[in-house]
Amino acid sequence: MRGSQASGSRDLPTTGMSQSQLTIAYETDRIEFFRRCVAQHGPLVQLGPATYLIADHSYAMSVLKNTDEQFQMTRVLGREPAQGSRDPGHPKWLEWRDVMLTAQKSDPVLSAHMEWVAGHADAFCERWLRAGQIHDVRAELELLTASSFARYAYGEGADDEVVRRTREFLTALLVIIGSPFEIPHSLRFLPRKRRFFKARKALEEAIGDAIPMASEASVVGQIRDSGYPLAPLRRYMTTMHAAGTVPTAVLMWALVELGRQPELADELAETGECGDFVKEVLRLWPATWLIMRETLEDVTCDGLSFPAGSVVLLSPFFVHRNAPCFGPDPEVFRPDRWMGLRPPPGSYIPFGAGPTWCLGGRFAERELNAIVPVLARRLRVASDTRDVALDDRRSLQPKLKSLRVTAR
Ligand code: HEM
Repeated sequence: MRGSQASGSRDLPTTGMSQSQLTIAYETDRIEFFRRCVAQHGPLVQLGPATYLIADHSYAMSVLKNTDEQFQMTRVLGREPAQGSRDPGHPKWLEWRDVMLTAQKSDPVLSAHMEWVAGHADAFCERWLRAGQIHDVRAELELLTASSFARYAYGEGADDEVVRRTREFLTALLVIIGSPFEIPHSLRFLPRKRRFFKARKALEEAIGDAIPMASEASVVGQIRDSGYPLAPLRRYMTTMHAAGTVPTAVLMWALVELGRQPELADELAETGECGDFVKEVLRLWPATWLIMRETLEDVTCDGLSFPAGSVVLLSPFFVHRNAPCFGPDPEVFRPDRWMGLRPPPGSYIPFGAGPTWCLGGRFAERELNAIVPVLARRLRVASDTRDVALDDRRSLQPKLKSLRVTAR
């Protein structure tokens, strides 16, 4: 799966598939299909008519860096529903990014929150241990991450209504983003779209009720007190709450790997040093495994040409398996590979890069590094996680229903 090729798009290896063949192959098993394409054609492939897959780290970086200029965001969870506009680099969203990043700057607030999160995770472990299992792994971890982000956003006054409505919104949203196809605007009154709008409205209302209660030092409290208008604040926070649960998938993978590697789990339980373990989980199982872009006009980028209307699929999952810095065994879960390793730009992109770099990346990293040591210290995970299958319909998750756990 190695190597890279600098050429015009006409020279890119192509699968020769028609649009309908491509759609069927992609829908049957997305990751497996891409894996075959990369193995057969290399890390830059034309998958079908005007559809490209990028698994090469330096081209991935070029596309990410040139987002908003040459390559536009596409899909639902991007900016489009927030603004009702597809303008590249929409100034209102860019302004929101600055506002949100500034509000997250305080280290003492973040650190105090992480102490709370560790305690919260410990309480979850206690409950699971009493039951001898985690009954619905995804639902449990989603509750943990949704309540963590709500508490970080509003402070101690965060109420459960926002968390409840976030989870309903996610259910409605995932039906839509689980499908690879944009629903034409004319079909926006399909039942699933209606459910999506209804769930978003309910979440916005819950956020509207929570904003006045947010503590002064909290992220939302600071934004509120800066005079930022309430309507976009409510709307943008729906995106933040939905994205705030992405660490759910990463925590599921962390449990899987703890079950697969009992010796490593013993070591982590003893030392509590989980930094490289978290990095390796994010490398091998990047929750946002596929990033999508489109071109509105003909684009040439680093010697590659993409006609107007191209769909460019950029995959952290395959970049992380293809980047030379990860050596000859990129498919192996091996946290010690991180000793002294500083991946070159584009090689390690679990949070993306460039102008759309993850708005919750710093928070998520700190959160994972607060929760994973608690899981490692408290739980012995049964080894039945060895052969879990992948669920690539939403954030990349293991297909895992319940999980047996015992106390350490
Ligand atoms: C481990 C967990 C997470 C991973 C792996 C992850 C990954 C990513 C990636 C790869 C992108 C770039 C997408 C693109 O360029 O198309 C992104 C964007 C984004 N993320 Fe995250 N994310 C995580 C957690 C979070 C959290 C906790 C939040 C919010 C609290 C969040 C909010 C966002 C937002 C709002 C964007 C869109 C940024 C923009 O378009 O300007 N993410 N994330």
